[in-house]
Amino acid sequence: MKIGILTGGGDCPGENAVIRAVVKKADKYGFSVIGIKKGWLGLINGDVEPLTHSSVSGILPRGGTILGTSRTNPFKKEEDVQKILSNIKKFGFDTLIAIGGEDTLGVAKRFYEKGIKVVGIPKTIDNDLSGTDYTFGFDTAVSIAAEAIDRLHTTAESHDRVMVIEVMGRHAGWIATIAGIAGGADCILIPEKPFDIDKVCELVNKRHNRGRGFSIIVAAEGAMPVKGTKLITQDESVDAFGHIKLGGVGNIIGKEIEKRTGFETRVIILGHIQRGGTPTAFDRVLATRYGIAAVELIKNNEFGKMVALKGNKIVSVNLEEAVAKLKTVDLELYDIAEIFFG
Ligand code: F6P
Repeated sequence: MKIGILTGGGDCPGENAVIRAVVKKADKYGFSVIGIKKGWLGLINGDVEPLTHSSVSGILPRGGTILGTSRTNPFKKEEDVQKILSNIKKFGFDTLIAIGGEDTLGVAKRFYEKGIKVVGIPKTIDNDLSGTDYTFGFDTAVSIAAEAIDRLHTTAESHDRVMVIEVMGRHAGWIATIAGIAGGADCILIPEKPFDIDKVCELVNKRHNRGRGFSIIVAAEGAMPVKGTKLITQDESVDAFGHIKLGGVGNIIGKEIEKRTGFETRVIILGHIQRGGTPTAFDRVLATRYGIAAVELIKNNEFGKMVALKGNKIVSVNLEEAVAKLKTVDLELYDIAEIFFG
């Protein structure tokens, strides 16, 4: 059995832990594993390398992905789809493991429909894939964001400032909500709940009237104002999956708060720092369990599936279910966060 493995989309802490687990578990069954470089792009270009025990030695705590990644969508050009199908034959892959979010796994699902034996592993710091309670990488991103909020808290308090902290999350505000609760945010803005800037300023004023000279506002990059439907973007360029480049809502909110309340405001965009570096212990373990479970699916001839976490059990769900719609923030959780606003 020859397994091809790739990582697609934004890189994510824990990817190397998955690759290591797949290689080690596959070896127990006598399967070989071939790494495909830079996601679907490597399968278009035939850029592959065998993965052995020595290639995965020492990579468990390392951030990023040893395979490299890209946001390549082969279904944009029929020619690329054909190149992939012929390279799968050429390299003799019996099966593919795709590690990714909605885009990478959406492509995996389409290849499965074309007869390729595919297994998916849920990866995204955004935690917005359906069919699983958690994607690996999310816990690390939340820990980084929560630590940043703690640090910003003390400087905000010393200077009597409003701090607006923009975190990642284009369509779902999971990082903002969980890191915001963990960091004691005074207001959390997420794409699922369009915000009214008047209400945000009211919360800031309320705190100041209570004698609290500082406020912590956490905003997901995809947060939107209530009246406009247009996202606030850095520019209008889109990637191969049609996603616009976000980042910038924090600056707009910060300026607005300072102008309306008169309180000195600073904006911090955490950006890619949330994706870089070593995974938390939770993510290392989750990624390891996912890697092992993916090889088990292959051993049992179960394809077109994604491994998933439900409660504390690793299960599998159909790829179709995983990519059908994004998993947005549970609003009961947001209600909990809201109790601490203002
Ligand atoms: O991979 C998910 C993510 O980190 C999103 O949270 C963010 O919007 C996007 O990727 C950023 O993409 P890029 O790394 O291409 O700038």
